[in-house]
Amino acid sequence: MKPAIVVAAALLLCLAVACAMASDEARSDPQPQYSGDKLVRPERYREWIYVSTGLGMNYTPDPGMADQFTNVFVPQWAYRQFLSSGKWPDKTCLVLEDRNQQSKGSINRGGRFQADLIGLGVEVKDQTRFADKWAYFNFGNDDKTAAANPKQACWVCHENNAAVEHTFVQFYPTLKPIAQQFGTYHEHGAPATQ
Ligand code: HEC
Repeated sequence: MKPAIVVAAALLLCLAVACAMASDEARSDPQPQYSGDKLVRPERYREWIYVSTGLGMNYTPDPGMADQFTNVFVPQWAYRQFLSSGKWPDKTCLVLEDRNQQSKGSINRGGRFQADLIGLGVEVKDQTRFADKWAYFNFGNDDKTAAANPKQACWVCHENNAAVEHTFVQFYPTLKPIAQQFGTYHEHGAPATQ
């Protein structure tokens, strides 16, 4: 092989390795992606860390929420930083998945299990983009992008009632002791108000 061809081949190989590393990184370090001023739906959140589940939690006047499961997910890189600091790093994205519950099905005789997806609530900490640090979005099942919700709809309740920054760690049994250990946990005893 001529030296020029060897050099070109070596360069191509480096490029291929660099691309592979970059795409690995994109997979393991998901951060909020935007299209204009809208948030892009985090499609692969089911590969993230599962935080906890609420069942029929009702903290808004809207009774429609009462019978649903709510599953919370966060990317691994942000979760790891929380474990070592009790805080969420900038560009953390949390997903709240709403699912219907069902009791009749297959061999089930009692209790309830999770069923259809109703929608996603997404919360991002992005200090360079949002003056209020945290922003909130809702995705219906067919939505690929979502505009930020008005502050009153989500931000205010999270600001006033969440135990760690804007997140409801008081309801996440594995994260609560970590935040307590780092002194980032703030108790909120009263029922949530808007
Ligand atoms: C009245 C208070 C209140 C309002 C308003 C509210 N939330 Fe929440 N949110 C909660 C509570 C309580 C939890 C914990 C629920 C659970 O564990 O299932 C929560 C959890 C979440 C989570 C999971 C991460 C976390 O912060 O703990 C996301 C994401 C989220 N909410 C998004 C939204 C969005 C989007 C809106 C606006 C449409 C919204 N929330 C409005 C009370 C509120």
